[in-house]
Amino acid sequence: MVLVLGIETSCDETSAAVLCDGKLLSNVISLQVFHEKYGGVVPELASRAHQKLIVPVVDEALQRASVEKSRLDGVAATYGPGLVGSLLVGLNFGKALAFGLGKPFVGVNHMEAHIFSNFLPDGSALQKDGVTSIVRGEHSVPEFPFLCLVVSGGHTQLVLVKRAFEYVMLGDTKDDAAGEAFDKVAKMLGIGYPGGPLIDKYARGGNRNFVKFPRPYLEKGSLEFSFSGLKTSVLYYLKGRGLYPSPQSSTMNHQLLSDLCASFQAAVVDVLVDKTFLAAARHAVRDVAVAGGVAANSELRARLKTGCDRRGLLLHIPPMEFCTDNGAMIAMVGWMKLREGAVSPYELNAVANLELTEEYR
Ligand code: KG4
Ligand code: ZN
Repeated sequence: MVLVLGIETSCDETSAAVLCDGKLLSNVISLQVFHEKYGGVVPELASRAHQKLIVPVVDEALQRASVEKSRLDGVAATYGPGLVGSLLVGLNFGKALAFGLGKPFVGVNHMEAHIFSNFLPDGSALQKDGVTSIVRGEHSVPEFPFLCLVVSGGHTQLVLVKRAFEYVMLGDTKDDAAGEAFDKVAKMLGIGYPGGPLIDKYARGGNRNFVKFPRPYLEKGSLEFSFSGLKTSVLYYLKGRGLYPSPQSSTMNHQLLSDLCASFQAAVVDVLVDKTFLAAARHAVRDVAVAGGVAANSELRARLKTGCDRRGLLLHIPPMEFCTDNGAMIAMVGWMKLREGAVSPYELNAVANLELTEEYR
């Protein structure tokens, strides 16, 4: 029996989870909601909040799992990519705890953890009975090699996962990531932060063809992503109609807001879906996985499902609570690495722009 504690503090979620032989015993996430009033994450404040939250969050994770820290077989923590001040809190806490317990420490790449969130069990059982081990429900695990669309606040990547920890980067973000575009457009519309879930919500009642915003496909056959031009198109649309910088959502007609959210979301989703299926065909994979905060988007989930069914591909999307940042995915990679004996040195430092792989195309 191997018990691993996973710690995640790369951005504005302080999270810790306990995993036992790949089964999740607890996953505690504390979201720093106060960033909302600044319209985005304030790095210095995020770091200070992690310092306050790290001890209670880790304690709570151990308590919910009914595990004494002395029983842990290893500690895993994110060391990049992310905000350096935030990363340092979880990383140093994790290293110190492992050192104090005389147990191995594993530094985890946050993007790798998003990919392997697809290997976590269905969390619904966890919510029901708290701490008991979980039987994987309908949620199936991808088989290697598989394609993973990683869509978060800082990254939009198409990754070919050949086997555990062996990746080929097929396409990456040239400028704004998809999640970042969602957040910036939501800010322009004055609807709040984080923008993704709010745009998703407003878009449900809207017309996706109301404005035909440009689809940034780049050169024919390209698997790269660029969403900054699309974001600027939304800005020009709003400015052209006197809707920016004010009046914003408070005075904007609700239907207009819904139509604009639906039209913007449609442009992002069209590009994500089309490039995913282009990559799947080019690399002849059967399994397609999605990960990261934007994987929570309802239109993206639905469109990928329909597209996969039509092409005979198997779609894997993590349960909602494992799409956005969480300690469970860090514990999962920590456990997988520990099994391989891949322990990190205590000198491991935070790396703000850590790459998933040096092997690029
Ligand atoms: O993976 P994540 O929690 O943090 C990073 O690693 O960046 O992703 C956060 C991003 C934010 O940009 C947020 O707006 C976006 O995920 N997001 C969504 C949805 N839920 C979260 N974007 C679109 N639709 C959603 N439902
Ligand atoms: Zn993330």
